[in-house]
Amino acid sequence: MNSLAKKRILLCVSGSVAAYRAPELARRLGEQGAEVRAILTEGATKLISPLLMQAVTGASARTALWDEAAEAAMGHIELARWADCIVIAPATANTIARLARGEACDLVSTVCLAADAPLLVAPAMNRNMWSHPATQENCAILRRRGVSLVGPDHGGQACGDVGEGRMSDVSEIAAAAAEAADRSLRLAGQRVLITAGPTREPIDPVRYLSNHSSGAMGFALAAAAARAGAAVDLVAGPTAAVTPPKVDRFDVVTAEDMLAEVMRRVPDCSIFIACAAVADYAPARYSQSKQKRSDSAVRLDLRPSPDILASVAKRPNPPFLVGFAAETEDVQGRARSKLDSKGVDMVVGNQVGGGRGFGDVETSAWVVWKGGGKRIGQCAKPELARQLVDLIAQRMGLGKVALLRTGSQAR
Ligand code: CTP
Repeated sequence: MNSLAKKRILLCVSGSVAAYRAPELARRLGEQGAEVRAILTEGATKLISPLLMQAVTGASARTALWDEAAEAAMGHIELARWADCIVIAPATANTIARLARGEACDLVSTVCLAADAPLLVAPAMNRNMWSHPATQENCAILRRRGVSLVGPDHGGQACGDVGEGRMSDVSEIAAAAAEAADRSLRLAGQRVLITAGPTREPIDPVRYLSNHSSGAMGFALAAAAARAGAAVDLVAGPTAAVTPPKVDRFDVVTAEDMLAEVMRRVPDCSIFIACAAVADYAPARYSQSKQKRSDSAVRLDLRPSPDILASVAKRPNPPFLVGFAAETEDVQGRARSKLDSKGVDMVVGNQVGGGRGFGDVETSAWVVWKGGGKRIGQCAKPELARQLVDLIAQRMGLGKVALLRTGSQAR
């Protein structure tokens, strides 16, 4: 059971009929030890009063972005920094769309844009609004960004329809909030070193050997580890991926560069995650001048690249080691043999080939460790990253975690 003791929860209420359950949620969070502050959208104020939220939280509820008194002290930034976790319950289709678009048009959307804290969204709307492709796409965007969704549930709705769209039970949202808030500190005090992306092995000044890695998984892990409170060093091969907030990025090109950068940083780290798709071979010789085309076949001699993960594993007192295994068949079995052959603490096996693999937005994985394993079903890479961070924390004994149920994740 996660504890909400001393956790600062920012409860954002938007204009769904389920807003009438927000005071009960605030009370439940408070009973479990959380300090709760509330923001109401304009729509929510038509359904419940800010005074009621003030009564149940003990702090005045904010409703407007342009509040002169609060904004004199940059209130929206202060609120964004204050929160250990932001809970939007109920979250309307409109609020979800605003978050997906990154709007800053009212206090809720502005605070969410300014905050680093984990974001938990509890949708509540008519079943057709929920199943509309626009809403589903907006939710998919949020999940890809690492936002957690809880619910919605199936049942009778205020409009008389029966279907999916009811806000989840208050107790379920409170449990999810506890996990999300707890997660914000899961790797506090840890320094995580992550490799990501492909490497590029030059043949001559215009050509190179590489692979299809997008870097998305490594960058998602860096974001998840940083959100979990770790200091994160990300050693990245050539990729267009955007550096997540609070992550120190070091760009490299070749496997040799990546090894050198990793070896420079590894003595300070407690966790090493080798997510990069390191080119296994590099051209044996680099040609200073561009090789000319000819009609005859050419031979390219290759030499093996250094195995970065194995080099770190050989160090005295290595950090907690996580490797990846991209496999075309028997993912679980091959992940397990890599666990032994590489001498690491955890291996994440991914299926590649047959149209699946590098560059996919969603993925599934077999995570194995000595004496155990877990399959993580198809989900967006930030969600997989979040679950991997939880598993790493569990295996390292950094806290007990029950994985968060994200209601419609399988959609
Ligand atoms: N790895 C590494 N340096 C290399 C090759 C791989 O650090 N030169 C790391 C990867 O980042 C990954 C793990 O080792 O975490 C396994 O990579 P993978 O390519 O699946 O395995 P290989 O050891 O290259 O074996 P094979 O390709 O034959 O399956």
